[in-house]
Amino acid sequence: MSFDLVLFGGTGDLTWRKLMPALFQAWRHGKLPSGGRILAVARDERSDADYRAYIREKFAGVDESKQPSDEEFARFAELLHYRRMDLAKPEHYAGLKQWLDERGADTVVLFLATSPHLFVPVCQQLGAAGINGANVRLVLEKPLGHDLASAQAINRAVRASFREEQALRIDHYLGKPAVQNLMALRFGNALFEPLWRRESIANIQITIAESIGVGTRGDFYNTTGALRDMVQNHALQLLTMIAMEPPSTSDADAIRDEKLKVLRSLKPFTPEAVARDVVRGQYRAGTVDGKAVPGYLDEQKVPPGSTCETFVALRTEVQNWRWAGVPFYLRTGKRLASRDAHIVVNFREVPHPIFPGTRQANKLVINLQPEDGLELHLLAAKGGGGNEVLAPVSLDLDFDKAFLSERVGGYERLLLDAIAGRLNLFVRSDEQEQAWRWVETIHNAWAADPTGPRAYAAGSWGPAAASALVARDGCAWAEEQ
Ligand code: BG6
Repeated sequence: MSFDLVLFGGTGDLTWRKLMPALFQAWRHGKLPSGGRILAVARDERSDADYRAYIREKFAGVDESKQPSDEEFARFAELLHYRRMDLAKPEHYAGLKQWLDERGADTVVLFLATSPHLFVPVCQQLGAAGINGANVRLVLEKPLGHDLASAQAINRAVRASFREEQALRIDHYLGKPAVQNLMALRFGNALFEPLWRRESIANIQITIAESIGVGTRGDFYNTTGALRDMVQNHALQLLTMIAMEPPSTSDADAIRDEKLKVLRSLKPFTPEAVARDVVRGQYRAGTVDGKAVPGYLDEQKVPPGSTCETFVALRTEVQNWRWAGVPFYLRTGKRLASRDAHIVVNFREVPHPIFPGTRQANKLVINLQPEDGLELHLLAAKGGGGNEVLAPVSLDLDFDKAFLSERVGGYERLLLDAIAGRLNLFVRSDEQEQAWRWVETIHNAWAADPTGPRAYAAGSWGPAAASALVARDGCAWAEEQ
């Protein structure tokens, strides 16, 4: 199958930091279909050779195991081409069309790795130039809008030129191996399904903690905040994967229909519920990994007195028969104690304990980061005469060890899926809009509430109010258990 992959924003951060390394890995693993071309498009004048040299240099910053040798890079670079384009000029799209038509690849993937304000005009230009035939797919990278109205405006522009199934919205969390495993765990095994409901599950916690701060992205982050940056997309996508009903097939729409139903079943927030069930925080100076780090307000390009949240913890419910009354806690933040993303499914305690001592409910932990894996926590008899003493033990499954040679990174997986036209892991516009609708009520409540975010020390697990939020229900976050 021949393909052309066009990277708009071909000299940008996303392209060299994530996409090129992922494409190189796919190529190295022999997964990239042969007969492909990768065309980087950007504003400045460069030859193919200049562009290849530019990317070669950027590879120096990649993990050592993922760096190409000179010989490997030379072969990979044969796929790379460069084209100067002013994205405002129709004639430049006509030139691109000609370049694509001369070859007539089976599949054309257009990846918008540009600033989001260009999504609408670029879609219009692509449609007007006729670069939207049935063999074309458009990949959009977040942020897809700032709120519901702007997300809808992007979707309208996309729809004016492309059919829904041509538009692939990336949430790179869906490309993470642990998320594939969550689907496999739930729908490839019969073991957990009878337990996957309110009768057996006490609560579910989703944590995406980062130890990094906002770095040099202070200006972008300050107009975004943790709710838009992480909750609207990554955390809610993980929640849908946990809570969805079994789809009737593995078709993309069968899966996405079920995810959408979850989003529609999320308990709507009132301003009172936001005040009670949502904690927003902002980091102050502290210590992370043994190093002193500044507070958010002292980061580059952050305006004085900003009330932007760098932490969110919230409690919600999925209002349907399976989940009624089960708390779902979401938590994400920058400059937390460690880089750690996981989902904890806390099961109910035994109804009638007969053993003395430790009483700990079972839990299933799905680890996404730093390593992916599964842990099932049980109580077992410790032995040692007299009364039976129970002690916690865990069954650990390390996917890296189990599937050593077959691991595929998030972007690599999503790029290969985009080229092959597998849509399961891309977000449909109705899911995305529903997620915006839900988080928007939180933003509206915050806008009317002068209290602002609560302070937390960098290197901690966020404001104390986040612990109080779960303690109210008699629960604790994983690191407090
Ligand atoms: C991005 C956010 O979507 O995800 C970043 O914009 C965040 O702020 C990043 O750092 C986290 O991704 P990962 O894969 O490193 O957990």
